[in-house]
Amino acid sequence: MKTYLVTGGAGFIGSNFILYMLNKYNGIKIVNLDKLTYAGNPENLKSIDGDERYCFVHGDVADHALTGRIFREHKPDVVVNFAAESHVDRSILDPGVFAETNVLGTVNLLNIARDFWRSGGGFRPDAKFLQISTDEVYGALGPAGFFTEDTTLAPHSPYSASKASADLFVKAYADTFGLPMNITRCSNNYGPFQFPEKVIPVMISNALAHKELPVYGDGMQVRDWLYVDDHCKAIDMVIDGGKPGEVYNIGGHNERRNIELVKKIIAYIRENADGSVDESLIRHVEDRKGHDRRYAIDPSKIKRDLGWEPETAFEDGIAKTIDWYLNNKKWLADVTNGAYQDYYKKNYEHR
Ligand code: NAD
Ligand code: DAU
Repeated sequence: MKTYLVTGGAGFIGSNFILYMLNKYNGIKIVNLDKLTYAGNPENLKSIDGDERYCFVHGDVADHALTGRIFREHKPDVVVNFAAESHVDRSILDPGVFAETNVLGTVNLLNIARDFWRSGGGFRPDAKFLQISTDEVYGALGPAGFFTEDTTLAPHSPYSASKASADLFVKAYADTFGLPMNITRCSNNYGPFQFPEKVIPVMISNALAHKELPVYGDGMQVRDWLYVDDHCKAIDMVIDGGKPGEVYNIGGHNERRNIELVKKIIAYIRENADGSVDESLIRHVEDRKGHDRRYAIDPSKIKRDLGWEPETAFEDGIAKTIDWYLNNKKWLADVTNGAYQDYYKKNYEHR
């Protein structure tokens, strides 16, 4: 039976990944190590309560003693490292914890995995460390072109600098010690369980509450959107088929300007939930510092080498996503509580 150590599995993508895997495979075990920061929510995994294939451990990826114990007890074959501080705006407000979790946490996991998986002169052939990285490590694009796996790393925000740094450590452990690893770099995800600090759930949450929709700068920045299940499918394929040492970009050629995205959300809510929501809620506010203008992924490598293709068209994915928030208003209310209000003030009040 294959055992996966998933870190950060109570967050947005991690919880979707755990649900995706347990739905797809019977004979697997998943251990979820999560610190339950503001972004980690056990409610996301309520539907697998009592599932014998799943086990939750509350703790920090940077905790050497705890992670060592998890390896000895559960003997994972694969590590899928989602755990991270993941929000660019928070990294501008408070960069330190991004270095602690994203860099030092990853280095700690690499040390434990290396020592556990090494036997004789090499590594167990079925072991793999999968680092979940991001297209933001490549920096920003002009109006044309795409990020390939060979694009130079040029991060701008403290968040992307910490992710690029972690990627370099993962590569260094492969080059130096021979650790079997892959790195995946995905574009912007959307779907259920995304914390309402990221643009899509912020706009849905605010529109439903008739609050202003804060569009940074001119709103002409471009992001390349991928439905979260398509990301999960790619991760599963990289775990099984990714050639050790390789990087895979993940994206579905779905570029949208922020302002276009916000107007689409307004139109959907207006039509399907609340006829009083309209574009007068949009407010252009002070831009994000160091704001990357455009991201766009070239996914040819993962398509060619592993046969991955995204399955969810944007029109379907965004409808499913907004419907999920409409049907899970308690989830939304519970996560936009006191601490969220403090963050919201800190990030938006001065703009
Ligand atoms: P998220 O913020 O929703 O979840 C992060 C999870 O990590 C939370 O459950 C949190 O409690 C946990 N965590 C934080 N610090 C921890 C620590 N020290 N120890 C253990 N757990 C800790 O993030 P997400 O959007 O699901 O992103 C997951 C991963 O995917 C991140 O590594 C991110 O860089 C990457 N990624 C995200 C996107 C995106 O669009 N959201 C795109 C590409 C890559
Ligand atoms: O590209 C992958 C990355 O996508 C991941 O690595 C990150 O973890 C994830 O957070 C995301 O980063 P972005 O910075 O692109 O996502 P965010 O949702 O914060 O912002 C998307 C765009 O919307 C960006 O151009 C900034 C803009 N924006 C964001 C917020 C929160 C607004 O205009 N207003 C807002 O209130």
